[in-house]
Amino acid sequence: MSGPRIVIVDDAEELSRASADLVAETITRVPAASVVVATGRTPMGLYAELAARRQAGVIDTDGITVIQLDEYLGLDADDRRSLFGWMRRSFLDPLGIRDERVIRLPLDGDLSERCAAFDRCLEARGGIDVAILGLGANGHLGFNEPPADRDARTRAVDLSVVTIRSNAAYWGEVADVPTQAVTVGLRALLSARTIVLLVSGRGKNEIVHRVIEGPIGPEVPASFLQEAGDAVTVFADLAAWGDDG
Ligand code: F6R
Repeated sequence: MSGPRIVIVDDAEELSRASADLVAETITRVPAASVVVATGRTPMGLYAELAARRQAGVIDTDGITVIQLDEYLGLDADDRRSLFGWMRRSFLDPLGIRDERVIRLPLDGDLSERCAAFDRCLEARGGIDVAILGLGANGHLGFNEPPADRDARTRAVDLSVVTIRSNAAYWGEVADVPTQAVTVGLRALLSARTIVLLVSGRGKNEIVHRVIEGPIGPEVPASFLQEAGDAVTVFADLAAWGDDG
């Protein structure tokens, strides 16, 4: 099995276009695709590009099912920091995905039982066709914070200090960032048939090289992508990859 495919592009705009080509091709090939959708800043251009292609009639997203990747715990449904709200604004509404085509993470009740049921549901549906992921400054995928094993299940997690600090850029300050979340586990993500990892900006330079070239292990959760072979395409812009990379 070969390793991840690395696509290095000039800038964030090209990152969005090139990754949209792959996602669009997959959705066209698998119209009923199960698609995991990250929030965060990096994939926003990709989502806008997909929405434009749908608007132009180039892709049809009516048949896909969207699977929520992660969500903070302890927020009201209409809280401005809800990651579901972010996903709705950036992906579901622009792509015309109705609520009944969204599989949401459990946020209350017996979370360990309900997260296990979520994983069983994903398996029963045949797993994930496309996972669209960003890369945390600490190497997280979703909110699989280090250390996270390749077998990690969907579960509630404590967010790391690094993640809380970087998420403060979304919401104002560190005190605005919830400290706990639910995330789809690495086990489900790594078994996706297509994994699109988007990496943009100088701040990701060191971590992207650790992910792709460093030792594989729980301290850099995304390093397990090295074992997921050619299912994985990493799109990195020059700022993230480095001119001499
Ligand atoms: C968000 C998520 C996170 C982000 C990652 C990168 O739903 O799962 O793993 O993808 O933290 O965030 P950005 O793109 O803002 O650098």
